[in-house]
Amino acid sequence: MLLLCLESSCDETSAAVVRAGREVLSNVIASQVDVHARYGGVVPELASRKHLEALPVVIAEALDKAQVDIGAIEGVAVTRGPGLVGALLVGLAAAKALAFARGIPWVGVHHIEGHALAIQLEREVAYPFVCLIVSGGHTHLYRVDGVGRYRTLGRTLDDAAGEAYDKVAKLLGLGYPGGAVMDRLAAEGDPEAIVFPRPLLHQDNLDFSFSGIKTAVLNYVNRQSAPIAGQHLKDLAAGFQRAAVEVLTAKALRALDATGMRRLVVAGGVACNRGLRQALQQAAAQRDIEVFFPSPLLCTDNAAMLGVAAQDYLQRGFASPLDLNALASWPLDRAGDDFSRDLH
Ligand code: KG4
Ligand code: ZN
Repeated sequence: MLLLCLESSCDETSAAVVRAGREVLSNVIASQVDVHARYGGVVPELASRKHLEALPVVIAEALDKAQVDIGAIEGVAVTRGPGLVGALLVGLAAAKALAFARGIPWVGVHHIEGHALAIQLEREVAYPFVCLIVSGGHTHLYRVDGVGRYRTLGRTLDDAAGEAYDKVAKLLGLGYPGGAVMDRLAAEGDPEAIVFPRPLLHQDNLDFSFSGIKTAVLNYVNRQSAPIAGQHLKDLAAGFQRAAVEVLTAKALRALDATGMRRLVVAGGVACNRGLRQALQQAAAQRDIEVFFPSPLLCTDNAAMLGVAAQDYLQRGFASPLDLNALASWPLDRAGDDFSRDLH
């Protein structure tokens, strides 16, 4: 099927054309980061308004880039949740309108399901696998048995990893969102110079906690008599990154051990992190495991990632009804419930 995919769950408006749940013909992303940066975080009402403005433009551009006429589109995929409900509703209304007007099926897809399966657009990863989702809103470990078949293995008990990166960057005056800036600074710092705690590292579970590292950074900053800059700032970024990466890596490897699996997929914005990539690739080289990272464009929020699950659901005849609503919160374990009882 030739699918038009729409994503508007947070602060990125995206439209993509995906063929057969595999081939990305276009993947256009309009970021609202500049709109929200001066508020130090996403302002939900502003996000909805910006999605409304941007969506028709990114849809037109996605069709244009793919050199596909709207008449050739055979189905529509859209993020149903989780996310900001006003922002989600913009995408959902557009998907319903397009599908209704053209008489084609549409399907509401779980945002994290999109992240977890995005790798399949670049290379085939056989099921089952363990998936580590690390983004601004999520730090979760899942077992993925197939499309629509997910089980939560562990999760953060407080902040998400990306949220911790952003909060630390903010308190260091590095702007918002600060994950990528921290990553760049960390590359030039000494990770041993300032040692931060590794919460839950030695606990025999698959859960995470990041607010403790963030507070430790805050306390460290408050103890300084002069503003942190230059090499001191790089060392601090490197120390924070080392602590975060060590916990993420250890828990992901523990999830593989606990499930007896050999394949790990890492996705979400923090999957762009060079320290995390390096640590997991090193672990893969030393053990009998494979680690997969989608390319950066498919790691962060984008519409093409929805195409994998949408193709599967629509091909099996599971289209969504026009009265389907957005879901602000929605556990991934329940993502496939509407589509088939025999999935589980
Ligand atoms: O998946 P994403 O684009 O949006 C959602 O949160 O759903 O992830 C955004 C998050 C932000 O917190 C951002 O600071 C973080 O990913 N991020 C990074 C890096 N690039 C983006 N964090 C650490 N290192 C990076 N290189
Ligand atoms: Zn996301």
